Amino acid sequence: MTIHIGAKAGEIAETVLMPGDPYRARWAAQTFLDDAKLVNETRGMLGFTGTWRGHKVTIQGSGMGMPSLSIYANELIRDYGAQTLIRIGSCGAMQPSVALRDIILAMTTSTVSTPSLGIFRELNYAPHADFDLLRKAAEAAARIGVKTHVGGIYSSDTFYDERPDLNDQLTRHGVLGVEMEAAELYTLAARYGRRALAVLTVSDHLVTKEELPAEDREQSFGDMVEVALSAAFG
Ligand code: HPA
Repeated sequence: MTIHIGAKAGEIAETVLMPGDPYRARWAAQTFLDDAKLVNETRGMLGFTGTWRGHKVTIQGSGMGMPSLSIYANELIRDYGAQTLIRIGSCGAMQPSVALRDIILAMTTSTVSTPSLGIFRELNYAPHADFDLLRKAAEAAARIGVKTHVGGIYSSDTFYDERPDLNDQLTRHGVLGVEMEAAELYTLAARYGRRALAVLTVSDHLVTKEELPAEDREQSFGDMVEVALSAAFG
């Protein structure tokens, strides 16, 4: 048990999927895992452990934004020994070539700020995904038949953004999409020698202003969970 996670020793798997939304953690556990058991409900940030094709997996909500994800990822890594952490979440597309429902695999992520910024100060550290996870996720996405883009993303601190000029520069420099958690996840994984990846489904589009209808979100989310599980155990 830690300050923010109530699971007992041994109740968290070495492989952890991290959706931002705790209700998505419950949906994914009920839909994809056998014998899913609730292992955390502290602050309503639900976490479940079960098995997928015989492999032990935990699906733990991270909350929104890097400060929240940082708390859960730190405790999962340092106190429970998590080895492979895969964020499954949504993002906003920043390129015309990326469409709603496509998957983005974040090879690297740019950010102006993470809870780790105090370490790097003037250095622009480049957080990156684990290559083996990234390659296996790309293969799984191709098998499932969902259009996939691999490249850089932007981990922002704000959903309601006041810097359209900055977004324009990121689009100009090929950044595929924006979300709010991956940079801290990748930085922590690097710090502790663990594997991390962010698998993101495009829920809205900053260029075309389209949004995924609520009824389509579940299917897209399901594809992402399958890609993440296949990457972890492929
Ligand atoms: N901005 C930041 N985070 C997001 C977005 C967005 O447009 N869409 C999904 N997560």
